[in-house]
Amino acid sequence: MNSKRKRIIADFTYNPVTAKAHANIALIKYWGKRSVDLNLPAVGSISLTLDALQTTTTLQFDDHLENDILQLDHRIVAGEPLERVSTFLDLAAGTIKRPRAKISTSNNFPTGAGLASSASGFAALAIAANQGMNLQLTDKELSKLARQGSGSAARSIYGGFAEMRCGSSLNDDSDDFAQGLYNDSYWDLRLLIAVTSANKKEIGSTEGMVRTAKTSPFYRGWVESQNEDLDEMRRSISNKDFEKVGELTEHSCFKMHGLAMSARSPILYWNAATTKMIHTIWNLRKKGIAAYVTMDAGPQVKVLCLPGRAELVKQAMLSVEGVKQIIEAKPGPGATIVSDDQQTVKNN
Ligand code: PMV
Repeated sequence: MNSKRKRIIADFTYNPVTAKAHANIALIKYWGKRSVDLNLPAVGSISLTLDALQTTTTLQFDDHLENDILQLDHRIVAGEPLERVSTFLDLAAGTIKRPRAKISTSNNFPTGAGLASSASGFAALAIAANQGMNLQLTDKELSKLARQGSGSAARSIYGGFAEMRCGSSLNDDSDDFAQGLYNDSYWDLRLLIAVTSANKKEIGSTEGMVRTAKTSPFYRGWVESQNEDLDEMRRSISNKDFEKVGELTEHSCFKMHGLAMSARSPILYWNAATTKMIHTIWNLRKKGIAAYVTMDAGPQVKVLCLPGRAELVKQAMLSVEGVKQIIEAKPGPGATIVSDDQQTVKNN
């Protein structure tokens, strides 16, 4: 997409630029790509941005560096994570040759374990790149840029509820962008996250999606039934119908995981504590407590409930064997710059 985006001014800020972004949880899941090269989703998705899961990223351009440097959670890392970040910055710069950069990024939660660190990470990097390169992108363009780092990152540009739209072209992303539906003050909800493992996932989301699309006999049904789920979710959020939102959230989650399990070879992101947690929450529901589970590409269980029920649900979750930590989240804000030195240097 980047070749099509117009560069407005070619100024790079050589002083550090710091951005913050929050992870999001997909209520209607994204799984599958129309194009792996352009990172175009095969389906739309709807998410809630979370205040408690935050990435802080500082980008500093420096002509004296020999290579880009990536510091992730206070450790210098090379290889695939560095390549992903460098490629992303190249995409953001478009046809302009950019200076090398040091990128320092840290998460206040486990990285790469199915807690959407790539969503908050690439949303923060998109916002920092926009500022550091003076790209002057709109939110829609920022979401497209973030999407190229990670599909779910497009939604983290916005606070509250966001929707990622899915276009139809195989080689053009003009319709693949996220939009804000309602901001973080629209509806006071709680999302309780049970961390059941801090290990990195074995099958990344891209690999999982590609394998599923190639081998699952149910993939077509997944793609074809998504719009109905999106329509119903949009309606239920606008009516603040909590039971309906919860029921649809679980439906989309189990449809996605059932799909992944039906791949050859099968993909199962859950561990024993994940399934114990699912049953614990379903038992609460039998007692009339409205709480609903959802899981992403990892074994963590996220439980959606109303604020008045959060303490009770949390206590039940803490009793599940194998739970390492519960993180309590509320709807969170969109991605922003938190510090910015105004000094810019003309790049000709
Ligand atoms: O953003 P990616 O490419 O890591 O894919 C995210 C996939 C899920 O988290 C499982 C679902 C979603 O919509 O966030």
